[in-house]
Amino acid sequence: TSVLQPYRTSYHFQPSKNWMNDPNGPMIYKGIYHLFYQYNPQGPVPGHKVWAHSTSTDLVNWTPQVPAIVRSQDYDINGCWSGSVTFLPGHRPAILYTGVNLQHQQGQNLAVPKNLSDPYLIEWVKSPLNPLMASTAANGINASSFRDPTTAWVGRDGRWRVIIGSKRDRMGMALLYRSKDFVHWTQAQRPLHSAENTGMWECPDFFPVSAQVPVGLDTSSNGPNVKHVLKVSLDDTKHDHYTIGTYNSSTDKYVPDEGSVESDSGLRYDYGKFYASKTFFDSKNNRRILWAWINESSSVDNDIKKGWSGVQAIPRTLWLDKSGKQLVQWPIVEIEKLRTNQVDLPNKLIKGGTVLEVSGITAAQADVVVSFKVKELERADSLDPTWSDPQMLCSRKGALVKGSLGPFGLLVMASKGLQEYTAVFFRIFKGQNKYVVLMCSDQSRSSLNHSNDKTTYGAFLDVDPLQEKLSLRTLIDHSIVESFGGGGKSCITARVYPLLAVEDGTHLYIFNNGNQSVGVPKLSAWSMKKARIN
Ligand code: FRU
Repeated sequence: TSVLQPYRTSYHFQPSKNWMNDPNGPMIYKGIYHLFYQYNPQGPVPGHKVWAHSTSTDLVNWTPQVPAIVRSQDYDINGCWSGSVTFLPGHRPAILYTGVNLQHQQGQNLAVPKNLSDPYLIEWVKSPLNPLMASTAANGINASSFRDPTTAWVGRDGRWRVIIGSKRDRMGMALLYRSKDFVHWTQAQRPLHSAENTGMWECPDFFPVSAQVPVGLDTSSNGPNVKHVLKVSLDDTKHDHYTIGTYNSSTDKYVPDEGSVESDSGLRYDYGKFYASKTFFDSKNNRRILWAWINESSSVDNDIKKGWSGVQAIPRTLWLDKSGKQLVQWPIVEIEKLRTNQVDLPNKLIKGGTVLEVSGITAAQADVVVSFKVKELERADSLDPTWSDPQMLCSRKGALVKGSLGPFGLLVMASKGLQEYTAVFFRIFKGQNKYVVLMCSDQSRSSLNHSNDKTTYGAFLDVDPLQEKLSLRTLIDHSIVESFGGGGKSCITARVYPLLAVEDGTHLYIFNNGNQSVGVPKLSAWSMKKARIN
């Protein structure tokens, strides 16, 4: 970052310039992490995509490589779109990606490394048989809604399976293909899954999670203690939704658990900005890691002025919660090596109406961990049962609206006089037979520049305040605020573009704007060092 580039991030993944969107084909090969991504080499606007490529040994510092897949053939001349990596027998990585052809039709293509002994996998060779999957008059697939192959997996019959995002009218679907050799693919009679009125499913992701232990599983794992997750990126709302369910590889049926749906009332990885995400199995550390694109909340003119658009979220480890009803996500531990200058606040009680500065860190580039303890829960305001939309609730009850228990939380990316701030906070309500915790990220006062999108985001947090403290972790990086509530049970990511709260003009506060006092048993904050990124 610099005076001219106050919104560039210091430890979030970005190319040095131009447009970036979806993460593609993340993997680890011979001890090297790879990230490919949708990139327009020509400028900070969507344009014609190639697969740009970076490598890393720690998922924190990244070295740029030459683009791995560029537009060169009739079948991908209008764009090399999103896709995934699968490891073939002998630990040979293979890329399946969507090509947009001369006629602007989408099809799926294969590329393999030229030299498997190169851990950096610089050169990739496209299959002479491309496209391997195409829309035809016979299969009736919509040629402009047929994209984003997942990592493939093997069923009990030894055949490969892969799903491709699609739709028929308003019905979103994950088309299923099978193959014996990874080259010849046959479309299955039925999609793996579909849902009425959800529109186009972009960037599907389908993977197993352990129902017993919080470790990651390789993509073909299945069995009695395994659940499956199907994530879809809904083009209509630009949100990543997931369901948890059971997958039977003999029938190729995926059945979401009761109440698990891909709609606004369903589960999301993140209740702010977070799209086109993709996981991979990190075989070195037995964990599953989630990458996602975070787009800008400012205008196209601004993208052109600053010369870039889009960042990637900090990679998150993800696993199934003990309840079995949702996933939990946490920033990869490696990011903690950027922490420096730790500041701790002694155990404190903060009264209603308090705003307290946490000084001693670079507040525009920081990691903050805080927990709250509320004593008199019976004083909680009651929750009107019609308030079922957490984002709406957070917009109506922003950081300035007093309640009984809350709002309390952090004011981040704040200017000295609080002309600008982003408020990340909790409120506790009395529900019908339990306490309900609301988590909000309120961007409404994040900038004096009113041309930005300052939408407030919100989520319910499945934590019982009778039993547990309410914890919050926020990663702050100049124009990005990534928050993890309840140890990663609800996550909210936001983009902000302050005018005053930039660089040294940025401050961090803890606040309680509720009527009741709140205990703060723990607060630690760190300055974050700059990572070496591209
Ligand atoms: C999602 C998406 C994908 C497509 C790619 C093109 O953001 O639209 O469906 O493959 O981006 O860049």
